[in-house]
Amino acid sequence: MKSSEIRSRFLEFFKKRGHDIIPSASLVTPDEKGVTNATLFNTAGMQPLVPYLLGKLYKIGDHESKRLADVQKCLRTVDLDEVGDATHATFFEMLGNWSLGDYFKRDAIEWSYAFLTSKDEGLGLDPKRLYITVFEGDANAPRDEEAAGIWREIFKRNGIEGERIFYMSADKNWWEAGDNGPCGPDTEMYYDIGDSYGGKGLTREQFIQGDDSRKIVEVWNDVFMQYEKKDGKVIGKLAKPSVDTGAGLERLAMTLQGVDNIYDTDLLKPVMDLMAAAPNELKNKRVIADHLRASVFLIADGVVPSNTDRGYILRRLIRRAVTNTTDKKLDMNRIDKIVETIISIYKDAYPELGEKKEAIKKVLEQEAAKFTETLAIGTKEFESIAKKGAISGEDAFKLFSSYGLPIDVTKAMAAEKGLNVDIRGYDAEFKKHQELSRAGAEQKFKGGLADANDPMVVRYHTATHLLHQALHDVLGDSVMQKGSNITAERLRFDFAHGAKMTDDEKKRVEEIVNRKIGERLPVNRVIMPKSEAEKTGARHFFGDKYGDDVSIYFIGDDLGSAYSKEFCGGPHVKNIGELAGPEGKWRFKIQKEEAVAQGVRRIKAVLS
Ligand code: ALA
Repeated sequence: MKSSEIRSRFLEFFKKRGHDIIPSASLVTPDEKGVTNATLFNTAGMQPLVPYLLGKLYKIGDHESKRLADVQKCLRTVDLDEVGDATHATFFEMLGNWSLGDYFKRDAIEWSYAFLTSKDEGLGLDPKRLYITVFEGDANAPRDEEAAGIWREIFKRNGIEGERIFYMSADKNWWEAGDNGPCGPDTEMYYDIGDSYGGKGLTREQFIQGDDSRKIVEVWNDVFMQYEKKDGKVIGKLAKPSVDTGAGLERLAMTLQGVDNIYDTDLLKPVMDLMAAAPNELKNKRVIADHLRASVFLIADGVVPSNTDRGYILRRLIRRAVTNTTDKKLDMNRIDKIVETIISIYKDAYPELGEKKEAIKKVLEQEAAKFTETLAIGTKEFESIAKKGAISGEDAFKLFSSYGLPIDVTKAMAAEKGLNVDIRGYDAEFKKHQELSRAGAEQKFKGGLADANDPMVVRYHTATHLLHQALHDVLGDSVMQKGSNITAERLRFDFAHGAKMTDDEKKRVEEIVNRKIGERLPVNRVIMPKSEAEKTGARHFFGDKYGDDVSIYFIGDDLGSAYSKEFCGGPHVKNIGELAGPEGKWRFKIQKEEAVAQGVRRIKAVLS
């Protein structure tokens, strides 16, 4: 079944069941009064609908709609390293149906099953290859017996035997949109894509293994919005429980087109075919196809490459596309062919692409050319390092952090000269920068944020710890972290404080941070059981979930004398001296201090 047919069958199915079909919102989330929306892009179909899930009426003309369905463009850039495997992409389309305080678990689940399995109206999938997960319950909410019961009944009614309903914990079966907003348990539908297990039903271990090895792929998620969260805690039940569902078009297409990865579906295969003869590896080609598709959609939605926020994400995607080519170049000829192909695949569903075709090509061409120039400078530095006869881990890391030369480019250049790159050394340098905690659903929603592997992002992360402690020093211990947001261009830190900071207070905070940077204190990490960690006096956040073992980052020689210590997954610089930049000249500066809510202040600060 073609992707276009999956889209139209989905919308038709829900239209017949009383849903209003609405168009996809832009990829770009709306900003509020000059303040950039922290999520930057829509990362799920429900995102543009959050106000309605919380109770606002959805009006279409005079009619109040309680049932909606759409196909929403989405972008997630959290798992960039996974892009190019069988199922991950940055850009994707999500099919979704919503009940705004109308139907609930029974109808949602019955329709999901019917759409997946019906040959006439739906996708005609084999119900014997379907597996289900439901929420097992925790301190926030009880086990979802209702959903499990409905599924059991459906399978029984259809004569489907075997174990196929598995209870899972909140990191799998709970959906929330960041720390605030509607949330609740979900039930996920999985499909045994290659019929590896013969449809007989599975043990829990087999299911988990099948999921890990991507033999059993999640194809749909029904979220039951029953609760509301504030600052990371469930504060109560929603007045009108709602339903939010999401099915990834790419994954459905892969399932229905009998291929084992999304890059071989009709949504991406024509782009992959353009690169068939190129000598680079399959994963590189997939990254190019994915990143350029995402870039085409971003540019069509008005994003231009820049060094901040959305423009920065677009810039990174284009740069990564360039570095994944064999010759580190995307010239007009290639861009032309790829853009034409992407637009021909999508123009019927998204006419805006066709309308902006020439502008899209121009932006891509200019940005790619600029980056090729940057690479040329990095290459010069590489040549001088190469004279040493081998590339040490430290040098490889320096080429990346100071000259923007990605490791795979360094490796390829070294291979041409028959030189060895100390990849283990490079990895060791990098490791501390990589262990960003992946806090399940919360991370899902941070889809638009800057890449934690970016050295500037890492610097700002450490600077945030310094700032936090300096604020305690100057304003007292009632200062409490309320939020933090980091891009490669700046840090943003929200904290509890009742008054505007005076110029003198700001100056003192800056001085402390700069003095500490000047002291070049080491940044260290220890991991210990939570109960012990709490006794160290390290700062941690009420409402955050921590596992049994927690990681503490501290700035100083030992935990006892550390200037700052916080529960944190990293990544951080090795020594705070790095915050002064490659030449040691940068200063920490507070650019802005303002109120964001009653009793909450926001600081934006830069290293420059
Ligand atoms: N919002 C849910 C998801 O993205 C449906 O999985």
